[in-house]
Parts: sequence; structure tokens; C-alpha cells
Amino acid sequence: MSYKAVHDAWKADPEGFWLREAARIDWSVPPTRALDDSRAPLYAWYPGAEANTCWNAVDRHVEAGHGERIAIIHDSPVTDSVSRITYAELRDRVARLAGALAARGIGRGDRVIIYMPMVPEALEAMLACARLGAVHSVVFGGFAAHELAVRIDDFTPKAILSASCGIEPGRVVPYGPLLEDAISQARHAPEFCVILERPQAQVALTPGRDIAWADFVAGAAPAPCVPVAATDPLYVLYTSGTTGQPKGVVRPSGGHMVALHWSMENIYGMRPGDVFWAASDVGWVVGHSYICYGPLLMGCTTVVFEGKPVGTPDAATFWRVIRDHGVRAFFTAPTAFRAIKREDPKGEMIAGYDTSCLQALFLAGERADPDTIEWAAKVLGVPVIDHWWQTETGWAIAANPMGIEALPVKLGSPTVAMPGYDIRILDEGGHEVPRGTLGAVAVKLPLPPGTLSTLWNAEERFVKSYLSHFPGYYETGDAGYVDEEGYIYIMARTDDVINVAGHRLSTGAMEEVLAAHPDVAECAVIGIADALKGQLPMGFVCLNRGCNREHSEVIRECIAMVRDQIGPVAAFKLTVVVERLPKTRSGKILRATMVRIANGEAFRTPATIDDPAVLDEIRSNLSEIGYPAR
Ligand code: COA
Ligand code: AMP
Repeated sequence: MSYKAVHDAWKADPEGFWLREAARIDWSVPPTRALDDSRAPLYAWYPGAEANTCWNAVDRHVEAGHGERIAIIHDSPVTDSVSRITYAELRDRVARLAGALAARGIGRGDRVIIYMPMVPEALEAMLACARLGAVHSVVFGGFAAHELAVRIDDFTPKAILSASCGIEPGRVVPYGPLLEDAISQARHAPEFCVILERPQAQVALTPGRDIAWADFVAGAAPAPCVPVAATDPLYVLYTSGTTGQPKGVVRPSGGHMVALHWSMENIYGMRPGDVFWAASDVGWVVGHSYICYGPLLMGCTTVVFEGKPVGTPDAATFWRVIRDHGVRAFFTAPTAFRAIKREDPKGEMIAGYDTSCLQALFLAGERADPDTIEWAAKVLGVPVIDHWWQTETGWAIAANPMGIEALPVKLGSPTVAMPGYDIRILDEGGHEVPRGTLGAVAVKLPLPPGTLSTLWNAEERFVKSYLSHFPGYYETGDAGYVDEEGYIYIMARTDDVINVAGHRLSTGAMEEVLAAHPDVAECAVIGIADALKGQLPMGFVCLNRGCNREHSEVIRECIAMVRDQIGPVAAFKLTVVVERLPKTRSGKILRATMVRIANGEAFRTPATIDDPAVLDEIRSNLSEIGYPAR
């Protein structure tokens, strides 16, 4: 079948299409209909159906006789170790962990936060929650205690599963103090914490609250899979919005299984037993969908990689992992390849590594620049597939469906809409624009299975953020266009979200932190272009009248505050003190103009500007710190 035939089949009968796909999943109560639109614009997939995600990701493969197949390969250059877990072992480990959680009162609908590094136990924790019908929320290890505290208060977990440390190149990151700090900042207190003790760092367990992982699971009775409604949340994953309060994306369990299964087969071209590697982190949506759930639902082997593209130990790490484990499809962010290219511009370090097992490289998380795509294709000698999606959607909105047919690649385009996504480009008034014209990228409702159903504790915010601006559509927050052949081009965000090394960050959240500095009267944070990370945050602060402290001192404090409150992942290292911020006469900060000045791009002085002289001041402040960078 061609892509066109598959897409047309979905378009002609979406209900039939998604019901047929649902048959690939084991249900305890099979769906009799696909879509419930009775509460439109809020939709639910597979109403009345029941299943368990852990069963489908783990147990059913063992039941089908594949217990000896490798489920997880943990490759950890930062601890110099490689280990493998079969499906049968994974089932037993997850069932025991679930049993221990159940014995402590965790059951269907209870909430559990997982704050863990890239170890197999992180996936086991997710699967154990799924097994019980408990809802998990994984928090990325690079976030600071404050971000964890915000999530604890919003998600109100009964338990937190964590580890004694994460490992970054050259440094151990102890989680104990972070967890302690977060719990003391939060209003909500978890009933108990389970801590995986790693040899690289000890942790002082708080008596009565903390239990060592090994003791927790020792002797626990295995727990069976609990069937849950397809509409029950499997997990909540917080992502950056325009304010400091992150958005808790709610992922219903049933549609998630169907969509991920479809994507593994049709987008990534995977078959059971194939080795799939997503070099991301379980704390991001890529980690949820394509380190944990997708590959396991498909019966593949997933690689859990604890390392970086460079420096662990060198720029050939990716090639080694692909060769050593027979990786068939590899997924990462373009920034990772830019990092390798910077260290090994000619790609010479791949010599000696036989990567012929690899069929394709998939890139997402940020715009894939043509240079990076071409370099990767030349070095690896496989198709390089850009695909576009978001935490909210959980799987690709646009992709090149390699499992159906490899469509011709157009550099700069993540190719075409996947079934389920009716993509439209709209102008400010919500009218469709002609082909080739830039506009807001929207998806006609309903979104397909696997996408978010709402925001945790914030249905109004869900409607306001995504469904109100263009009634009848989901607003992606991206701007782009569609060409004559239906290829989609994603150009920029339409909001204050920036993308730093494939990580989605909110400039609004950073502004909230800077504004709390006692000497800062006003501030703005923008995303400037960066050759490695795509974008980098840059802060502009105006100091209170009468503040005569050294600017360098205030700047140091501002940088430390963002690292302290949001985390090292924000990569916030650039700040300038300015006299005034450029504004419109109505007081709106001209962020887009500031971005252009910092990037050294041509710009037109906005007609609505209050005082054009401020732009010259900004330009001179920036040149003092070497921007625009040459
Ligand atoms: N725990 C603690 N700290 C973390 C962390 C974690 N899980 N992940 C990142 N950090 C820290 C880093 O150590 C770094 O700290 P530093 O300021 O002290 O150096 C900071 O956060 C920024 O990290 P990162 O964005 O990873 O930058 P880097 O300079 O260390 O590495 C790349 C640059 C391009 C190699 C790296 O960003 C990368 O591999 N990106 C891949 C992108 C990716 O996986 N995206 C996910 C979506 S697909
Ligand atoms: P996240 O929710 O962290 O996955 O970030 C989603 C955002 O990253 C999208 O809304 C886009 O702005 C950007 N993004 C992700 N993938 C791509 C891509 N292939 N091309 C362009 N932008 C992308």
C-alpha cells in the first residue's frame, strides 16, 4: 500500500481506520467504537474499552513465547557498563515492583512521580505504574529542585521513585539533596519515596519515608496487570508553556497504545525483535514514546543509553552503540549530530565501525537544518528522516512513513501529515492561507488517538491554550507552510517557547525567575540562534533606579538563579544589563526585534515602537558582550 492509499483510507473512514488499528492491541474489553465526540471540542478515544499498557508492552510477548528476547539493553558509557534484560526478566522485575507498590497502597488512579536517570529501573517504574493503573509523571533529571516541587504540588503523588544520583560527563549529580529540597519546597508531601542506590553516590534515607529500592522489591509478591479504561490516563508529562507553571499533558492509555504501535510499524518500519534506539531521556516525550512504550509495545529491543553524543568518551560513541547492538532504527535530535560534527567535521571517526545494520536515522525535537541532514546522510549512508511532533501529540504529526513507503526527502521539510492529522495553515483570523504561504499550523479536530486529552487539573487552560484561538482546530504553536505537494515546513514557534539542544523551554519561566532578583526592575528573555544548540536563552535586565552594584555581580546572580530554580538544562549563561527595553507605545516588549539584533539579522524598526533610540542602546550593549556573534 502507498502512503496515499493509507492516508486516503483514514480520511474516508477515520472511525473504521482506528478501530482496525485497535485490533493490534490486546484488550480485556475490546472497543466497539473509536471516537467519542459527545463533549467536543474535548474528545475521547475508545470509550468503554479496557486494557492494560504493561500487559501489551511486556507480558503478552512473554505469553507469546518471546520471553528470551532482549527487551532492554542498558548501554552506559558514563559507568562503563552494558547490561541486558529479557522480556521474561522484565515481566518479573516489573511485576515485583508493582507488587511492592500495591502493598504500599498504590492502585488505579494513584499518582507516582519518577525522578530518575537513564537506567532500566526508570522504565520498570513507568511500567509498574502502568501495570497497576497508577498514573506516572516522569521529571527530567536536569531540572532543579524548584521545578520538581512545582510538579509535586500539581500532581500530588502518593509516592516518588528516584535514585541516589544521575551521572553527567565528568560529574555525579546527587539526587538526594535535590529531592529533599523539592519536598521541603512543596506543599504536598508524598507518603513514601523509593530510592535506587547506585554505587556512584550514597543517599541518606529519611526514616519512615524513604526505602531503598532493593529492600522495597525484595520478597514482594508479583502483581498482575489491572485492566483500565482506555480513557484513563497512563501518564502526565509536564512541558513548558508560556508561563512558569508547566503544562501537565495528559495521555489516555488506550489511544496511546494504538497510535504508538501504528507508528513503530509504519513510520519507523520496525518489526518485533528489531533493535530500536532513541537517544533521548525518559524525562522527555521522546523517551516516553520511543525509549519505553513504543518499542516494547512492538516487541522490539530498546536501547537505554546513558551518555552523550560527544565526550562519553568521544564522538564515535553513537557509531559504537549502533554497531554493538545491531540498531536498526536510530532516533535523536539534530543538535546531537551537530555536536558530533563539531568534533569530527569529516565524520572520520566512523571508520572501523560497521553500522550496516542501520536502516534509517530519524530526527526530531527541533528544526532539522539541511546541513546536518546532509552531513548525517553522508556519514551514515542511510536515509535521514526529519519528523515533527510535540509533547502534546506523543507521536509524529508529520513524517516520512518508512514502513509504508519512503517518500522523496525534501530538505527542510518533515514530509507529510500522518493519518489522523488534518493539517491546515491559518492566518490570524483563522482562515486558510494559500499553499506556500506562511501561517499558524493547526490541526483540524479531532486529534488522533495517542494525543493529549486535556491538561492535568487544568481543563480551562487546555481549552484556552490550544482550542480557543482557532475554534474547531488544535493550535500547535508552530508557524509554517505546506507546499504544492503537501509537504509541511515548520519554521518557528508562535509563542515564547524556545528550543535549546532539543529541549523545550519557556522564556516566560526564565523571566519570572529574573524578575524576582531584588535589583531587577524589568527583564526580557529571548532565544538567540546558536550553531550547536539551535537556540540559547539570553536575558536582558534593567536594574532598579539607585542600584549601583557592579553589573557583573548582578549578572552572575541572575545566571545562578535560573540554574538554581529551573535547572542546568536551561543553559542560561548570557545576560546583559540594559538601561531600557524596547517597547511598543502600548508597552509590549519587542522581543522579535531583539532576537534579530542579537542574531545580526536585518530588521525593520516597528512602526509602533515607543522610542527607536532604545534599539541602538541594545545594539551597543550586545556588542560589548560580542553579539551578534561572528
Ligand atoms: N541531569 C543533570 N544535569 C543535566 C542533565 C541531567 N539529566 N541533562 C543535562 N544536564 C546539564 C548538563 O550537564 C549541562 O550542565 P552544565 O551547564 O554544567 O554543562 C546542562 O544541563 C545543559 O545540558 P545539555 O543541553 O545536554 O548540553 P551539553 O552542553 O551538556 O550537551 C549536547 C550538548 C548537544 C551534546 C546535548 O544537549 C545532547 O546530547 N542533546 C541531545 C538532545 C536530546 O536528547 N534531546 C531530547 C529530545 S529528542
Ligand atoms: P517538544 O514538546 O519538546 O517535543 O517540542 C515540540 C516543539 O519542538 C514543536 O512544537 C516544534 O516547535 C519543535 N519541533 C519538534 N520537532 C520538530 C521538527 N522536526 N521540525 C521543526 N520543529 C520541531
